[in-house]
Amino acid sequence: MGMDTKALRTFQYGLYLLSAVDEGGREVGCVVNTGMQLTSRPYRVMVAVNHDNVTYAAIKRTRRFALTTLSREADMGLIGGFGFRHSDAADKFAGLDVDHTAAGLPYVRTAAAAVVECAVVTALDAGSHEVFVGEVTDARVIDPKAEPLTYAYYHDVLRGTTPPAASAFIADEPAPAAGPAPAVPEAVAEPAPAPAAPAESGAKHHFKCNLCGYVYETADDELPDDFRCPMCGAAKSMFSKLD
Ligand SMILES: Cc1cc2nc3c(=O)[nH]c(=O)nc-3n(C[C@H](O)[C@H](O)[C@H](O)COP(=O)(O)O)c2cc1C
Repeated sequence: MGMDTKALRTFQYGLYLLSAVDEGGREVGCVVNTGMQLTSRPYRVMVAVNHDNVTYAAIKRTRRFALTTLSREADMGLIGGFGFRHSDAADKFAGLDVDHTAAGLPYVRTAAAAVVECAVVTALDAGSHEVFVGEVTDARVIDPKAEPLTYAYYHDVLRGTTPPAASAFIADEPAPAAGPAPAVPEAVAEPAPAPAAPAESGAKHHFKCNLCGYVYETADDELPDDFRCPMCGAAKSMFSKLD
């Protein structure tokens, strides 16, 4: 039997912020691509959450979560902040436009299309991740004009990567190559320019973030001391010079 993991890459997903409040009242959250409506009678939604995520522990204990659909306006700072750091290392909601669902779960209003709040009705341990099925207890459209961000757009246009904690992580997948983003139709490319595009012509040095795999291209042969990874926020010391 063949095992071509490229087959798994044909699945389509959106990109969401999953949030919860832990038992101590701390607001936590992470990026997930594994979120979907599961049933219509009653309205139930599922998410798959890695056992090592801080957000997992909060949902497991409090049995509530909110799932915010990101829009194409989402930048790599937002996705990197929620998708590559743990909530015990930072208040991920600090400085963002945050509101709360009926049960008091936080959600961001910036670059967000909608949010649903759920009460967990059942959970399934699926291996690296646990599947939580939640009944929808509150649902709000945040921006009716927002175009939901897809996992494909995140990879192909924003040049994002997927960390091992994601359920759709594929171990043998190559990191995104340096250089300009692939050509995309203008209407698609316009709202979110690719972050990996060279800052100026003649750029020739590449630095790779060891945390999230982002490749930064610049004409300078050193990164400034206060440089931060535009995708995951890692400091300059996390970068390796490729050439
Ligand atoms: C594109 C992308 C997709 C992700 N998908 C998932 C997912 O479906 N499930 C999951 O548990 N983690 C996923 N992650 C990883 C979590 O967002 C990441 O482990 C985060 O740092 C966990 O934060 P926390 O410990 O504060 O909960 C994804 C990350 C990215 C960037």
